[in-house]
Amino acid sequence: MKRLANKRILLGITGSIAAYKAGEIIRRLRDANADVRVVMTQGATEFVTPLTFQALSGNPVHQHLLDNDAEAAMGHIELARWADVILVAPASADFISRLCLGRANDLLGALCLASHVPLALAPAMNQQMWKDPATQTNVQTLRSRGVLLFGPDSGEQACGEVGEGRLMQPHALIDALADVFATGSLTGQTVLITAGPTREAIDPVRYLSNHSSGKMGYALATAAMEAGAEVILISGPVDKSLLVPHSVKTIHVTTAEQMLEQTQALAHKADILIAAAAVADYRPVLANSEKIKKSTESMMLQLQRNPDILATVKRQSPWLFSVGFAAETENLELHARQKLKDKGVEMIVANWVGHAATETQGTFGSDDNALKLFWDGGELELGVSSKARLARELVVLIASQYDNAIQSGRLNKEQREVENVVQLRSHSHDKKN
Ligand code: C5P
Repeated sequence: MKRLANKRILLGITGSIAAYKAGEIIRRLRDANADVRVVMTQGATEFVTPLTFQALSGNPVHQHLLDNDAEAAMGHIELARWADVILVAPASADFISRLCLGRANDLLGALCLASHVPLALAPAMNQQMWKDPATQTNVQTLRSRGVLLFGPDSGEQACGEVGEGRLMQPHALIDALADVFATGSLTGQTVLITAGPTREAIDPVRYLSNHSSGKMGYALATAAMEAGAEVILISGPVDKSLLVPHSVKTIHVTTAEQMLEQTQALAHKADILIAAAAVADYRPVLANSEKIKKSTESMMLQLQRNPDILATVKRQSPWLFSVGFAAETENLELHARQKLKDKGVEMIVANWVGHAATETQGTFGSDDNALKLFWDGGELELGVSSKARLARELVVLIASQYDNAIQSGRLNKEQREVENVVQLRSHSHDKKN
């Protein structure tokens, strides 16, 4: 169940006899390496104690909307932002009706309103309550708002009756939840992603670089893979703890020139290029072969411009739907729109960095970020959220803009076919020699 690995699952448990089955759901989620936080309604605590779920999830259980201690640790808005998905299992008839009305009279109701991540409900109730027109109308309304319904199953019920209303089996629930992360919006496309910083050697022990952690690029690689793409990640030196799914082909490079060389070599295979790398703009003209000694009071380091990988590759491979990043400390929109033109790309993803970024926005090294996207004729703001979630939202947008570009004939795909023939010919020529 790789799709759930590192996903942040907010599990809502409401008042139903099936609440005890939430223990198995939590265990399976943790087996899938998901991060689970539990929110219980008052009704749920009458069936199972919060302590049980605290022990199983490894995190404190959240219960009250206005609880000073809980708000100080992780407030309800933070909790809403934290989640990648909200699963309410079991979802009682009462909770479903409150959700339908948009009530925020308890923590779980408020979280569902405050969050815009996918929301899935696994109903569990007496078969007659499920069949009741009131419940059925509520369920239809929620479906029409995009809420996902998992189950209910049919069979013998705790009350002795037989019919529809049983909580979906935990293993099937976990499968359905994993499918939420398989959007399929990039099925059949190859996505080339650059990520992380580059390092430019000064001497054998020193280099020029920047604070980029590579987290955004790696999150994009995972999101694009989950959306069905074949992903090639060209990564600068990042922390070894940063991981991508095995199916993402990763090529490690150190310098800007190496990154350019690899990106150029792979461009003919790709449909989309996402340049998330923070490429060093300059490199030392000469990298000393020996360690430079501190013999003088001051020293000059002569630098030369590095090639602009994104602009170069887009110029050489115009069929590539290309997305660049703009990390700015001032005039975000102005600089982003200028880059859109200067680099000749289809989209720019801009964010504040350094002193201009607020504490909550994070950026370099942080798990959170806030983005503003610009393209010819449009823009969209994605508020503060985890980089994983932003990456998924970005991928959905990139996929739809890519489709528009293909349908309107704005991308020159024919040129790519020519390029592929040239590559094939030079390959067979190399073999003969
Ligand atoms: O011009 P600036 O460095 O702000 O542009 C940022 C965008 O251009 C990013 O998408 C980055 O990956 C890309 N870039 C590049 N090669 C460079 C500099 C930036 O691909 N040498």
